Amino acid sequence: MPRKILVTSALPYANGAIHLGHLVEYIQTDIWVRFQKMRGHHCVYCCADDTHGTPIMLRAEKEGVTPEQLIARVWQEHKRDFDGFHVEFDNYYSTHTPETRQYADRIYSHLREAGLIEIRSIEQYYDPVKEMFLPDRFIKGECPKCHARDQYGDNCEACGAAYQPTDLIDPYSAVSGAKPVRKSSDHHFFKLSDPRCADFLKAWILPPRVQAEAANKLNEWLQSGLSDWDISRDAPYFGFEIPGAPGKYYYVWLDAPIGYMGSFQNYCDRAGLDFDEYWKPDSEAELYHFIGKDILYFHALFWPAELSHAGFRTPTGVFCHGFLTVNGTKMSKSRGTFITAESYLKHLNPEWLRYYYSAKLNGSMEDIDLNLEDFAARVNSDLVGKYVNIASRCAGFINKRYAGRLGEIDIAATAPFVAAFESGEIARGYEERDYGRSLREIMRLADLANQYIAEKKPWEMAKQEGREAELLEVCSTALTQFRDLTLYLKPVLPKLAEQVEAFLNLPALTWGPTWAPLPAGHCIQEYQHLMTRIDPKVIEAMVAENRQSLEPTVALADAPAPVRHAEHQQSQVEATPSPWEPFIGIDDFTKVDLRIVRIAAAAHVEGADKLLKLTLDLGGETRTVFAGIKSAYAPETLVGRLTVMVANLAPRKMKFGVSEGMVLAASDERGGPFLLAPDSGAQPGMRIK
Ligand code: MSP
Ligand code: ZN
Repeated sequence: MPRKILVTSALPYANGAIHLGHLVEYIQTDIWVRFQKMRGHHCVYCCADDTHGTPIMLRAEKEGVTPEQLIARVWQEHKRDFDGFHVEFDNYYSTHTPETRQYADRIYSHLREAGLIEIRSIEQYYDPVKEMFLPDRFIKGECPKCHARDQYGDNCEACGAAYQPTDLIDPYSAVSGAKPVRKSSDHHFFKLSDPRCADFLKAWILPPRVQAEAANKLNEWLQSGLSDWDISRDAPYFGFEIPGAPGKYYYVWLDAPIGYMGSFQNYCDRAGLDFDEYWKPDSEAELYHFIGKDILYFHALFWPAELSHAGFRTPTGVFCHGFLTVNGTKMSKSRGTFITAESYLKHLNPEWLRYYYSAKLNGSMEDIDLNLEDFAARVNSDLVGKYVNIASRCAGFINKRYAGRLGEIDIAATAPFVAAFESGEIARGYEERDYGRSLREIMRLADLANQYIAEKKPWEMAKQEGREAELLEVCSTALTQFRDLTLYLKPVLPKLAEQVEAFLNLPALTWGPTWAPLPAGHCIQEYQHLMTRIDPKVIEAMVAENRQSLEPTVALADAPAPVRHAEHQQSQVEATPSPWEPFIGIDDFTKVDLRIVRIAAAAHVEGADKLLKLTLDLGGETRTVFAGIKSAYAPETLVGRLTVMVANLAPRKMKFGVSEGMVLAASDERGGPFLLAPDSGAQPGMRIK
């Protein structure tokens, strides 16, 4: 039975460029949607620009354009970037549209009827020169804790303290530089503290609707009590005015998720779908939101509470991912690792990044790291070295000797491929957003295909008379294996898959219920080179191009420009570089259980050119560890000496056996590895802390 699925990614703010951090989410979602479509489900992927709010209003003003002109331009840029990465929305829309306004009004009026909207007067900082209320991020002053100057109104970047803007010492408006005054005005609140909301949410925030780790976080928030949510802002503001409340606008976070509905309504009008069938309370359609962990609160508390009291269905699932780091730290302008989509595409192939992110994504909320060296190594070895290699080694023979016509296949060699297809393991990985698992299984199959070719040696068969039939069988078999791998990789590498479909002369590959080999007699096209290797020099050039000298402290009049994110968020981009960041807390450190061990035995490992097999005495218990220190130590010199091991590292199955921990050693270009040694007196089993 085909499922009916509506999928969204978070709506990117229209006040900044798409960068590699954003792409974690859009690539993750796109792969999932493509997978569902290949499985024959009816799946619609909607998104839009998030266009409202004070930062956008001020930025437009600064650029001397209207907010409408600004968001129209940014829409084009965002769309270009998403297209460039093959992120294929069924609809990419905007929140500044009649559809979104209509649903915002409807939700607001339903909540009002339900008694869940309250109007209250609150006091806030007001810029008397600019004649506007100031969001927290637009008030600066001296930190009340550490007295650092020029800190934002919500938290201090020097000491990390969080506070209210009214706590700042000597506050000033970041818009005009004026001293803000306190002024009160009426605000509309969504009464999230109403027991109806808490009761509903308690039953709602359960796995599998949210990941287990998200459920924990949400429960903490719920336990500590939900505050009413301020959903209005005063003019001047760029957004939708609240009907019947002149000068009051919906806060951007109220209409942003409603933009999902706006975009879908717009799609329905074009595609002839019935909006209500997807959004009515008892809808059978599935609704999934892909989001980053910074906006979990909005999507898993505010949003379902709003929907459920406004007569709409709630999401089937909220899929939350972690944040991107580059080379182990936050993206950084000064290091050149704050890389925009546009800049990446100038230098590198988008499918390389799609592949690398997929290999790292596992459906959890953990951060994912783009290690630029590992990126090049991984793509080159997996995609070029393993996958593409299969076709490039076999296609030529079929083209040249058999006029492109395939023969019978070797049933025994395809048996593991049939088994993999039938096990459904790869599909399960995709469905559960554990793409890393799918790719490991796919690469296992790629290894099998390469082993098959290496054993059969078609290049030798080609030189020997009388082996034509064998040669044809081997190449036809390898190409069937290659077809399977292409099918599995297609959600991740859609353009490469298209090229392969053309080369193999096949209709668009879909993930049907049954497996069949490429039939004998089928004709393929001339093989064209499919993918080049990443040249690490090109990555270096990209990083150099993105490296900016540290920006000078921003002059007052210029202040709105560096607002790097909207009102509710802290910056995700680090300003001052420290090679030691991100710092870890002592809790992180104590997670690593370091112990003194005595090397009880050490031996060479047959077939391994870097490893030694160590037997470590932990003071009672013994462990086997494979250590990459063969280049520096002869095994017999190690026996009896004390060193340091990580005792709680998860056991890892290696080709030569299970490694039950790790010994520590130092190295760099000056030499190594050098094993650590404790001072005398230390005994096996002692903890290092
Ligand atoms: N406009 C809001 C979302 C409204 S949804 C109704 C917003 N926009 S954003 O542009 O800041 O972020 C868009 C998405 O990209 C969010 O899900 C966010 O978590 C994600 N990411 C932005 N930077 C990111 C990283 N560095 N790493 C991973 N994802 C990140 O939030
Ligand atoms: Zn401080």
